Amino acid sequence: MQEILSMTYYWLKAGHLIFVIFWMAGLFMLPRFFVYHQEAPTGSDEAARWVEREKRLLRIILTPSLVLVWLLGLALVVTTGAHTQGWFHAKLLLVLALSGYHGWMSAYAKKLARGDYALSGRKLRLLNEVPGAAAALIVVLAVIKPF
Ligand code: HEM
Repeated sequence: MQEILSMTYYWLKAGHLIFVIFWMAGLFMLPRFFVYHQEAPTGSDEAARWVEREKRLLRIILTPSLVLVWLLGLALVVTTGAHTQGWFHAKLLLVLALSGYHGWMSAYAKKLARGDYALSGRKLRLLNEVPGAAAALIVVLAVIKPF
């Protein structure tokens, strides 16, 4: 029984980390796409191609990965009892913020599709640092478990 539980834990963790990688890869790519998209004139064929690429990135990689990271992460909470530990509360806060960032990026893709280029390329490049910084903190919390 103990062996089955520990194998379940390792398989859940492997799945969790695989989809964390996909999710992060998508979160790094999307604002980059926005920068190139905004360099194309509104209403051009090039802009329409970027709208399609952004939609596909969201539909095929970002949204399914977000859902699977959450489902596998919550299954790990049940397996490990992490909800009673301080590091997990801090991680949860950061993961909620990262999920909010995902939602905001997805809304910005819709704005761009309507031709509303609200943010400058410089701002988008700065925003591109958010998932990297959040991921670094989350990994330190999950691996070192400092408190
Ligand atoms: C979406 C909500 C998430 C939940 C509910 C969640 C929950 C968990 C839980 C309970 C564990 C097991 C910890 C243990 O073995 O004691 C874990 C492992 C891990 N998580 Fe998450 N997680 C989430 C998102 C993320 C994200 C976004 C990242 C990275 C950017 C991440 C990185 C990791 C890493 C690196 C481990 C392995 C830690 C280790 O065993 O050394 N998680 N997660």
